[in-house]
Amino acid sequence: MEDLDAVTAIESRRSIRKFKPEPISRPLLEELLKLAGCAPSRANSQPWKFVVLEGSTKDDVIETLHTKATKLKQEEVAIGSCLENVRSMRQSPAIILVYQFNSESSTGDAPQRTDEASDIMSIGAAIENLLIAATSKGLGTLWIREVLLAEDEINEIIEVEGKLMSALAIGHAVEQPDPAPRRSLEEFVVWKE
Ligand SMILES: Cc1cc2nc3c(=O)[nH]c(=O)nc-3n(C[C@H](O)[C@H](O)[C@H](O)COP(=O)(O)O)c2cc1C
Repeated sequence: MEDLDAVTAIESRRSIRKFKPEPISRPLLEELLKLAGCAPSRANSQPWKFVVLEGSTKDDVIETLHTKATKLKQEEVAIGSCLENVRSMRQSPAIILVYQFNSESSTGDAPQRTDEASDIMSIGAAIENLLIAATSKGLGTLWIREVLLAEDEINEIIEVEGKLMSALAIGHAVEQPDPAPRRSLEEFVVWKE
């Protein structure tokens, strides 16, 4: 299958919550990660790190998240759709943990707060690149913030430098959901002349 062009991939990307067990090859994952790394970033700081989970480490992280989310639920802490996300993560052949990783700290030419916001935006840009590239290549993805419910426990397993930001489930989609409703241009664009 030929890659979808960028506009078609942007339009057809959906959050996918059901995956086939079919694996994704290492070269394809590497290609997607390289495309993530093409994102713009503050002063080209590239403040991201991706940890690709497969095999038993993937299972350990997912079961750790499941245990923690179940415990929090029993304690009546809001866990959103975390248990549903755990199901999607179990199905997907690879999970990518996204970390904020600053090889250099503040540039000194902007307030610290601006740098922090810029780094988070840069990481979001890299994630979006990855999601669009994956869609372009016929794969489905899910961006999962609820992985942070088990941040400390996951850090104990993964032991990489950086701050856990999100997880991405990736795989061959079983579904193509209808698009989630979007605000109209009139609602989110202001023109000034
Ligand atoms: C920063 C961020 C975090 C998200 N975290 C979750 C999550 O934890 N669980 C989940 O099911 N979806 C999560 N999503 C997916 C959104 O729910 C989804 O993008 C939104 O409903 C629009 O649907 P669409 O992606 O199909 O267009 C997240 C999306 C973003 C951008």
